Amino acid sequence: MDIWVIIFLTSHTAQPKPRTLTSETCGVSQFDEDIIMNRYNVLNEKTFKQFADLIYQEAGIYLAEHKQSLVSARLGKRMRLLKIDEFDDYYQFVQNDHSKRELIQLLDAISTNVTYFYREPKHFETLTSILQDWVNEGQTRFRLWCAASSTGEEPYSLALTLAETLPSLRDARILATDISNTVLETARKGEYEAKKLETVSRKLIDKHFSLVRNKGAKVYRVQKQIKEMIQFTWLNLSAPPFPMKGPLDVIFCRNVMIYFDNEVRQRLLDEMHRLLKPGGYLMVGHAESLSGLMSQFKSVRPSVYKKR
Ligand SMILES: C[S@@+](CC[C@H](N)C(=O)[O-])C[C@H]1O[C@@H](n2cnc3c(N)ncnc32)[C@H](O)[C@@H]1O
Repeated sequence: MDIWVIIFLTSHTAQPKPRTLTSETCGVSQFDEDIIMNRYNVLNEKTFKQFADLIYQEAGIYLAEHKQSLVSARLGKRMRLLKIDEFDDYYQFVQNDHSKRELIQLLDAISTNVTYFYREPKHFETLTSILQDWVNEGQTRFRLWCAASSTGEEPYSLALTLAETLPSLRDARILATDISNTVLETARKGEYEAKKLETVSRKLIDKHFSLVRNKGAKVYRVQKQIKEMIQFTWLNLSAPPFPMKGPLDVIFCRNVMIYFDNEVRQRLLDEMHRLLKPGGYLMVGHAESLSGLMSQFKSVRPSVYKKR
């Protein structure tokens, strides 16, 4: 079976019913309700620690104490949707949901999904030159992994780079993974407002996107042949080993390890090392500090590593 076939089983049992004190039950307006939420809805240190431990255990995301207000704001949004007022109640709600669906929602709420097309463009220039070298050496099959693909801009940028560099080669595939189902759904759609394409050249937009309309707004849809190069799949980077065999040519794992501590980073780097072919490349975010963790790789350029 090909590495791109990954099966994740998720159960779909009914969710426990949240305890509520809401505009419906206490007869106040949404405005009043927000005030009530602000007054009573305080994330205390103990509950913050419980959430931080759970999030670390489940996703490897390390939340230092100074992240308390960020966690409070992000979870508060989710709680408002569920009409749960108290953080303690929400914590219990997550714990009691054995389907783990709310846990996924919690991780969705916590994670930062900022991304854009051709972010850190030097990596894409480097990729182009690596691919050209491999083509000159006679390589015809290419396998890439985009390890934290967010809403899709990064894997689509990779697919565009492959399509532009290897126009006559068909056997080029990208595995794109993320822990957030919400961003994966957006990525699979492959539709972006014009503003999101500001970092893509007009030539590439005309060649690889179709203009569609969504409620009157200009939206660009990634064309089928680009979309078909990518498989989007849920994957938790903090829990290797992963159900892929490799060997992979290139891994983009950018702007996600910043959320992990060194223990989780090292586990992930070991697993990426296992999956890469000898001489394969790993690109990490420019802001990521991985000193002391990269002994199995050779640094070839800033934030570009080669498997020894
Ligand atoms: C800031 S975005 C980076 C997106 C893209 N790599 C880039 O550099 O533009 C971080 C992504 O990592 C994902 N993420 C966070 N923790 C993760 C984990 N444990 N496993 C997989 N993905 C994770 C988030 O859902 C989010 O989409």
